Amino acid sequence: MMGLKDHTALVTGGGSGLGQAMATRLASEGIPVTVADLNLDTAQATVDTIVAAGGRASAVAGDVSKQDDVTAIFAHGVKTYGDCTLLCNNAGHAEQKPFLEITVEDFDRMLGVHMRGMFMCAQAALPPMLEKGDGVIINVASQLGHLGAAGMVHYASAKAGIAGMTRSMAREFSRTGVRIFAVAPGATRTPIFDTISDEWLAAKAAELPLGRFAEPEEVSETVAFLASPLAAAFVGQTMNPNCGDYMA
Ligand SMILES: NC(=O)c1ccc[n+]([C@@H]2O[C@H](COP(=O)([O-])OP(=O)(O)OC[C@H]3O[C@@H](n4cnc5c(N)ncnc54)[C@H](O)[C@@H]3O)[C@@H](O)[C@H]2O)c1
Repeated sequence: MMGLKDHTALVTGGGSGLGQAMATRLASEGIPVTVADLNLDTAQATVDTIVAAGGRASAVAGDVSKQDDVTAIFAHGVKTYGDCTLLCNNAGHAEQKPFLEITVEDFDRMLGVHMRGMFMCAQAALPPMLEKGDGVIINVASQLGHLGAAGMVHYASAKAGIAGMTRSMAREFSRTGVRIFAVAPGATRTPIFDTISDEWLAAKAAELPLGRFAEPEEVSETVAFLASPLAAAFVGQTMNPNCGDYMA
């Protein structure tokens, strides 16, 4: 147990992949988790798994790139479990396209879900955290934000922006009791792989120092650590569970 017992968590994109693993891992600490996703059925499936294991969780549908949906997601969480004190800003999607084929709409959608979505969720979560002088926000970036990614310029740009937003927020709120981090996973086996070409994945697997992709549960352990008092001396860092792809 990581000492999270006073937290109330909200995980966006909790119906699949990394978000599902984060919600399940946090619930295993005995804390209630609101699972938000575009897809209510998959969010509910995560909740069912958590409840079957003896945990507490509640599902809500919403698109984090839309202000009204963000408001509704947080209203559901507050009504069900009280103010969110642990936000995992995880919802996202990936897309591979040559730079000259990325439309302005593709670009706006990528930044809208990743950067604007995380920004709006953080704005929704922060006021009660600041009032309590306690809270944790974890923004899910990507190693591609460090490395850059040919064929995924809009995705890598959004993820680099998330790391910068995280550092800036951490500087602004570091003395309030609210702790803010980013986690930048490397390639991790989730349904997001369906959007990435087999060639890209094979090339990436071949160059990884560990010689394998990460599993969602390995990333969710990083989240549990950052959320815990064990990470009290970390401020604004981007943690990199990535099988050695980017070492910093
Ligand atoms: N899997 C990887 O290799 C990898 C690596 C680095 C970063 N990431 C990041 O991790 C996060 C989770 O990715 P994943 O691999 O679990 O993907 P995934 O496709 O398995 O899950 C993403 C979830 O987010 C939800 N979602 C997407 N857009 C949303 C929106 N606008 N509002 C609410 N929910 C939305 C989807 O419905 C889905 O349930 C993403 O931010 C992704 O960019 C993934």
